[in-house]
Amino acid sequence: MAPMTPVPATASHVEMTQLVMPSHANSHGTAFGGTVMAWTDLAAGMAAMRHARLPVVTASIDQLVFRSPVRIGQIALLRAQVNAVFATSMEVGVLVLTEEPLTGEQRLCCEAYLTFVALGPDQHPRPVAPLLVESELERQRQREASTRRAARLELREALRRK
Ligand SMILES: CC(C)(COP(=O)(O)OP(=O)(O)OC[C@H]1O[C@@H](n2cnc3c(N)ncnc32)[C@H](O)[C@@H]1OP(=O)(O)O)[C@@H](O)C(=O)NCCC(=O)NCCS
Repeated sequence: MAPMTPVPATASHVEMTQLVMPSHANSHGTAFGGTVMAWTDLAAGMAAMRHARLPVVTASIDQLVFRSPVRIGQIALLRAQVNAVFATSMEVGVLVLTEEPLTGEQRLCCEAYLTFVALGPDQHPRPVAPLLVESELERQRQREASTRRAARLELREALRRK
């Protein structure tokens, strides 16, 4: 297969906004954690597809810690970008912020790291283009993603041995 042209990390950037409606909420008037997780998966999946330009599946989602709730009437703002590309898999980082629509004040809701695998027409993992990192922040994200990948693959091996 011919070498693929590297794709800039910024090309995968996704911003997704969602007004929190009563249908998204639990009995405390805040968004269900599972709903925020679904939005996170969606934003990250779009970033992975923007990089790979192939169908992708979620291979794993790292620990998700909710730092503050998103209330009905607030805006959930999700920012996703590919942090690192390995062979067929990519780590995507997602930042979820809460925005108060009347003041614009923003707070961190949660941060997440997801791994997606690109699939070819045969439904098997298929290599994707390398990532072109252009800033110190992107280089740092790439280094940190490699450390997290090692931990993830160790966990995967441990689960396989069970
Ligand atoms: C993800 C999946 C395609 C991996 O298939 P597989 O046969 O295990 O493939 P491989 O062992 O060749 O791994 C393929 C890549 O996935 C990565 N991977 C597999 N499991 C992983 C995990 N738990 N965490 C992180 N990366 C993982 C591998 O490291 C490899 O990456 P690389 O090519 O960049 O080195 C397969 O397990 C699958 O289809 N899972 C279900 C996905 C799904 O239904 N998601 C939810 C709905 S979208």
